[in-house]
Amino acid sequence: MAEARTAKKNTKSGQKESVRPLISAGRIQKRIRALAKEIRRDFPGERLHLVSVLKGGVFFLTDLARSIPGEVSFDFIAVSSYGQNTHSSGQVRLTRDLDSSIEGRTVIVVEDILDTGMTLHYLLSLFQQRKPKHLRVAVLLDKPERRIAAVRADYVGFSIPNEFVVGYGLDYSERYRNLPYVGILTLGSAVKGRGTE
Ligand code: IMP
Ligand code: MG
Repeated sequence: MAEARTAKKNTKSGQKESVRPLISAGRIQKRIRALAKEIRRDFPGERLHLVSVLKGGVFFLTDLARSIPGEVSFDFIAVSSYGQNTHSSGQVRLTRDLDSSIEGRTVIVVEDILDTGMTLHYLLSLFQQRKPKHLRVAVLLDKPERRIAAVRADYVGFSIPNEFVVGYGLDYSERYRNLPYVGILTLGSAVKGRGTE
């Protein structure tokens, strides 16, 4: 199986980068189907408005949307966080707003990963002011050890240890998003903390 192999790469700086598979593509898809069922069970017969955070959350959104039966619409938002490459500064800024109003809608925020929680904390307070009917959070991955802001997700794909992960939307300097699985990135030694958005 190709994805069971550790991908190794020498970067321009000569640093050895490798990705050790953590969650296979098959497990991701199976878990997403279960989450989709759970979400629909919680809101039977309602139109669900999925709001994803660009760019990392898009892979999760498209797979989740295809597994939720009934009416689904979606929209996108983009944020940027200031700070160094692998540490959260806690400053979140909106760089692209939603196309349409969420007032009175059942909104599910769809994110790739819940790490310090600063991004979701910012987004949830912003969305709450816009008076949705319901506001819920679905994340594919949760790193509970890293939490700073008091945020919890209603739907969690997988809880993972404090390792820097890439794939299935998650990047390291915009690379690796296209991997169908999630893996731990190592740059000689394991990278702790976070990377770019
Ligand atoms: P938070 O605001 O610290 O919860 O960070 C959430 C964002 O940080 C995610 O949407 C990702 O863009 C990024 N991030 C956090 N942890 C990782 C990781 O392990 N790999 C790649 N990106 C990460
Ligand atoms: Mg993200």
